[in-house]
Parts: sequence; structure tokens; C-alpha cells
Amino acid sequence: MSAKSTLNLIAAACENMGIGANGSLPWRLKKEMAYFTTMTSKVKDPTKLNAVIMGRKTWDSIPDKYKPLSDRLNIVLTHNVDSVKEKAPKEVVVVPSIDEAITHIEGRDDVESTWVIGGSSIYEAAMAHPNCGKIYLTEIQKSFDCDTFFPHIDKQQFQVVDEEAIPSERQTEGDITYYFRVYRKL
Ligand SMILES: NC(=O)c1ccc[n+]([C@@H]2O[C@H](COP(=O)([O-])OP(=O)(O)OC[C@H]3O[C@@H](n4cnc5c(N)ncnc54)[C@H](OP(=O)(O)O)[C@@H]3O)[C@@H](O)[C@H]2O)c1
Repeated sequence: MSAKSTLNLIAAACENMGIGANGSLPWRLKKEMAYFTTMTSKVKDPTKLNAVIMGRKTWDSIPDKYKPLSDRLNIVLTHNVDSVKEKAPKEVVVVPSIDEAITHIEGRDDVESTWVIGGSSIYEAAMAHPNCGKIYLTEIQKSFDCDTFFPHIDKQQFQVVDEEAIPSERQTEGDITYYFRVYRKL
């Protein structure tokens, strides 16, 4: 397995592990969104870009003016490849499985690393996949009404690690506090 096809997950979840409600985010956290953008966009080699893999509903949840997510290779998973492809900008890669996404990434020279950006079943498939690397989870210290949830993190399989580049102190935005946590698959 090459480094670029290691699957790193990134998500923000609230106290009840909710990640979404009614097809969008239950909260508005500007700095947290900026963290997501930085983490998924930053590259060591300026001639490369990162891939972001997402489910079709997450793709639909991104406002038109922000998609495809800039400076990243956008890969959308769906069972209806043709119809999703038809409506998406031509640079968006549409595939029917996570393994096809990995095959596509392996075939390109311009991808540096890969981020799985949701939603639920895509996170679950990535966590169970042999290529799973780390989970970058923003843990929001508040409960929200959600209809979409981050999968259970098995603590026998995933361990919290310190990462120098990730702030470990509590973050505050308005009346909401959260931590940037990193889990590594053992
Ligand atoms: N807080 C966060 O970090 C975060 C991150 C991402 C998303 N969200 C939120 O989560 C919600 C969307 O997530 P979601 O879990 O409902 O949906 P999702 O995972 O984004 O999309 C589900 C769709 O992905 C496709 N899919 C799933 N598994 C597949 C597989 N194995 N092979 C091929 N296609 C597959 C299917 O598309 P088809 O139906 O087209 O076949 C399925 O309906 C929104 O509310 C969004 O705002 C939050």
C-alpha cells in the first residue's frame, strides 16, 4: 500500500456522536471548518493535491458555490455512477466503491494523500478497511439533534495519539467548545 492510499478520516462529532441533521451540519463553526479545509488541502509537495472521498449525500450537502472542494481531487461514492456523473462537474471522480476510489488514486501521480470526509457508511467502510490510517475527530462538547452519526470507535482498534501539528488545547467558538483529537488504527 502506498502512502497516498492510506485512508485518513476527518469528521466533527458532537457529544452524542452526531455529525449531521437534515442533510447538513447541525452547527456553524467557522474555525473548525477552516481546520477541515487546511487539513484536507495541505500538501508537502506543491505540485500535488490531496483526494477527498465522500458519499453522494455529503456531496449533495455541499453548497454549489463550494463544490467541487477547491484544490482537492473530489471523489464521490454512489451506486448510481452514471446519473451522479452526469450532474457533477467533469473533474469530479464518481465511483461505486471505496476500492475503486483507491484504484483511481493509485493510478495517479498527482495525489499526495487521501481524506475520507463522510458520511456515516463511508466512515464505517474506511475504518474497517485495511488501508485505514488515522481518524481526525473534532469532539464538540455539546449535544445537537442529529439524524446522522459517526460510527462507534472501537478502543481496542483505535488509540488516541498526540500529533505535534494539531492543537491539543480546548478550542472555543461562541458558546461552543471542542477538541481536535487524533486516533490511530493499531
Ligand atoms: N460532521 C461531519 O464531519 C460531517 C461529515 C460529512 C457529512 N456530514 C453530514 O452527514 C450527512 C450526510 O451523510 P450520510 O451518512 O447521510 O450520507 P453519505 O455517506 O454522505 O452518502 C450516502 C450515500 O453514499 C453512497 N454510498 C454509501 N456507501 C456506498 C458504497 N459502499 N458504495 C457505493 N456508494 C455508497 C450512496 O449513494 P447513492 O444513494 O447515490 O447510491 C449512499 O446513499 C449530512 O447531514 C452531512 O452534512 C457531516
